Amino acid sequence: ASQEHQGKSGGRQHHAVAVSFPTSGHLNPLIRFCKLLVKDHGFAVTFVDVRRASEGSAAPPQAGMLRSPPSHVPQPPVPSFRRVQISSNAMPKACDLSFRSLFETTASLGPELEDVILSINHEDRPVTCLIADFNMIVPAQDVADRLGVPCVVLCTCSASMLLLTHYLSQGDVVCMDSVICAHSSAKDGDDVFCRCLRGLPTLFNKDIPHFRHVEDETRHVWELLIQLWKICDGKAHSIVINTIEGLEDCTCAALTDSSGVPVYDAGFWVDHPCNDISTSPWKEDEGCMPWLEQQPICSVLYISFGSIALLSQKELEAFAEGIISSQQRFLWVLRPDLVKETRYSAKDVVEKSRGRGLVVEWAPQLQVLAHPSVGGFLTHCGWNSTTEAIANGVPMLCWPYFGDQLLNARCIVDEWKVGLAFHAEKKDSSVELKSGEIERAIRSLMEGNEGRTVRENAQKLKEKSSRSFHPDGSSHMKLRSLLERLYTK
Ligand code: UDX
Repeated sequence: ASQEHQGKSGGRQHHAVAVSFPTSGHLNPLIRFCKLLVKDHGFAVTFVDVRRASEGSAAPPQAGMLRSPPSHVPQPPVPSFRRVQISSNAMPKACDLSFRSLFETTASLGPELEDVILSINHEDRPVTCLIADFNMIVPAQDVADRLGVPCVVLCTCSASMLLLTHYLSQGDVVCMDSVICAHSSAKDGDDVFCRCLRGLPTLFNKDIPHFRHVEDETRHVWELLIQLWKICDGKAHSIVINTIEGLEDCTCAALTDSSGVPVYDAGFWVDHPCNDISTSPWKEDEGCMPWLEQQPICSVLYISFGSIALLSQKELEAFAEGIISSQQRFLWVLRPDLVKETRYSAKDVVEKSRGRGLVVEWAPQLQVLAHPSVGGFLTHCGWNSTTEAIANGVPMLCWPYFGDQLLNARCIVDEWKVGLAFHAEKKDSSVELKSGEIERAIRSLMEGNEGRTVRENAQKLKEKSSRSFHPDGSSHMKLRSLLERLYTK
């Protein structure tokens, strides 16, 4: 876009309303994306914060201005970012979280959203577009249609997850009871889910997303995702995926060819941290940064399972034992609701580690992953954690729980080769991870040959990722072409 075009719609400054979904894994990328639009493209953004108003210390919503953009960026009239909050209904803790009720609550927010948008849609700064989290497409597209403005959708998961949803919506993959099946799997034997779904790698049954969190909601969630995708595919202006060129190219090409909505792999906005806005009920513990400063380069294993994954008491104990006996330095995020009823305290873990470890309730993850002392990441493979680790060149040890995490783990280990997997034992229908295997895998990542290989690969992928986020890199170019389309339609 020409510079005088930036942030303008018909000569006016673009005013986007961003519609969020209330978990950290969704809020973080949307906030980062909006900050990018404000800082580099002169947008005004009103961020509609659909917030978990549960226990804890979530910051109260405030109207706020961002810092001024650097002098080389053309100065638009008042680049601002302000927040409004809707729905003060208490959202449950991770251990009570039902995807179904979360989706149903947020899908019904249309009237409230419309009230908010009408109240800010003034003549001097009219709303020119909506930017909606994929999960919020139902109320967002509805309001966008009424206002006659475009709705840009942000996909906070990988392109592969979106493509799988697309195949489900087309009937190439079908939902049966609480599993999904690919038509092409039958002849390939029990373990293969699909070999020839265009744009996806060969997938095994263990890689297939399910939604067995507190209870098994798999079938229901897939049905919801298909509905959301159909609205997106048929009505949205465009879809931005938080992925980069070179990572999921075949997947993005398959999406572009077979869906009706323009797809932009213009993602990874990790240099726009959102630490001035709390996105979790827990306070970031900054105390871990001075501790990291004192540790040798590449010596610390960072451990976090994201914002909603749950561990059983048995798993927590196995992890604690395995981590401690690996004798590695570690920084472990033990969220207060990570285990439903824990008898194992953070104090126990720290004491047993004889000073090698630090436990926090919530960490400034982006800063942690960027710190040179961090040499590995034991992760649940949430898409944000995955992209943040890639952007910082940190190799991963994968223990996925549900949803897209299973698919992400498969790509991390076998496609991009920037992480290792645990060898867990199959027990009936579940898998059991023993502390001895945890110890072995951690040592392998931090000190072994396998670890060295994935660390080198992770460094190369980091370079690719920073090239795409360079001002002339592919993510910026693609975002510019999306904005150009937005200005002209
Ligand atoms: C979930 C899904 O797992 C994810 O794949 C999906 O795309 C979004 O919803 P979540 O399980 O919370 O998200 O994981 P993840 O996607 O990794 O997001 C967690 C976010 O919280 C990351 O941005 C991470 O930086 C942040 N975080 C996590 C912290 O800031 N501090 C912490 O201590 C832990």
